[in-house]
Amino acid sequence: PDLPPILAIETSCDDTAAAVWAGGALRSSVVAGQRVHEGFGGVVPEHASRAHERLVVPTVQAALREGGVAMGDLGAVAVTVGPGLAGSLLVGLSAAKGVALGAGLPLVGVNHLEGHVYSVFVEPPRPPLPFLCLTVSGGHTLLTLVEEGFRHTELGRTRDDAAGEAFDKVAKLLGLPYPGGPHVDRLAARGDADFLDLPSPRLAGKHGERPLFDLSFSGLKTAVRYWIADLGGDRAAVLERHRADVCASFQRTVVDALVDAVRDAVRRTGVRAVAVVGGVSANSGLRAAVERAGRADGFATFVPDRAHSVDNAAMIAVTAAFKLAAGHADGLDLGAHPALAL
Ligand code: KG4
Ligand code: ZN
Repeated sequence: PDLPPILAIETSCDDTAAAVWAGGALRSSVVAGQRVHEGFGGVVPEHASRAHERLVVPTVQAALREGGVAMGDLGAVAVTVGPGLAGSLLVGLSAAKGVALGAGLPLVGVNHLEGHVYSVFVEPPRPPLPFLCLTVSGGHTLLTLVEEGFRHTELGRTRDDAAGEAFDKVAKLLGLPYPGGPHVDRLAARGDADFLDLPSPRLAGKHGERPLFDLSFSGLKTAVRYWIADLGGDRAAVLERHRADVCASFQRTVVDALVDAVRDAVRRTGVRAVAVVGGVSANSGLRAAVERAGRADGFATFVPDRAHSVDNAAMIAVTAAFKLAAGHADGLDLGAHPALAL
């Protein structure tokens, strides 16, 4: 729809992001990564909020400049309200309120997970509704049915670690930097996926007992840890020699379980459009496997551009555009919800 430009701000974790959406298209999307966490093997919440505080204004200014939109031309301000780190969310929320208050604009709160789901609408080809959505990020692993009217029905989820968390933990065991997902992806491309036989993350759900698509990723990380512990004397040398093989074995096990769950969901629901979103949807193995499955089983696949798989504000902007078009807007009393569900 032809709404006035929307400025979106996303600060739920460790990326400070802003985007401008106007006239049904993305005008700009800026992501300022926080290098401050690299030496810590993970995100330090206190460091994240301080970095957001430092980066949020320049990031918003860059998004407006690159989008060719002046503050006075904006029609609304969108912001991620959760889930995420409380201190990080509050920085984005305060910045968005400042703009909304100063320019007299409506505020639109967006659920970060809903943002990932609608990230497939940032650019064409866009899926028809309803579609099945596999959300695989650093904090979540969910399979949902997405219907008209912002309705999300859960078909399955992880019982423990998220898929991205599993990538990051295995990467850490292998001595790779944080976040490990992209490093595992790169190394897996030249490793032997048959090197390690790892336990499948797929839980065999019994009828009526639990959701059919439950997954568990914690056993994988434990299996890799035991493999390393059993290496003995020349551990460092063996690890060095087989790092890519372990990455390939791990990645194939995760990808097979995720794609299997998707194929099952298509068979059971009859819905023939599948989206794969969230940071892990940037993974080359997963992208290739889901497209292959779609061709084999006859369903259409929708995977965002890699820049919109990982955290970004374009997905928050497009979700806000849908919300505004449906008549949703929030007041300046909008709050942060660190544990928000989809
Ligand atoms: O969606 P996202 O940017 O942030 C959250 O909402 O969590 O996802 C981040 C996760 C991290 O665990 C990161 O390692 C993973 O996505 N990731 C990848 C790849 N790129 C990012 N995992 C596997 N392969 C990749 N290429
Ligand atoms: Zn995310």
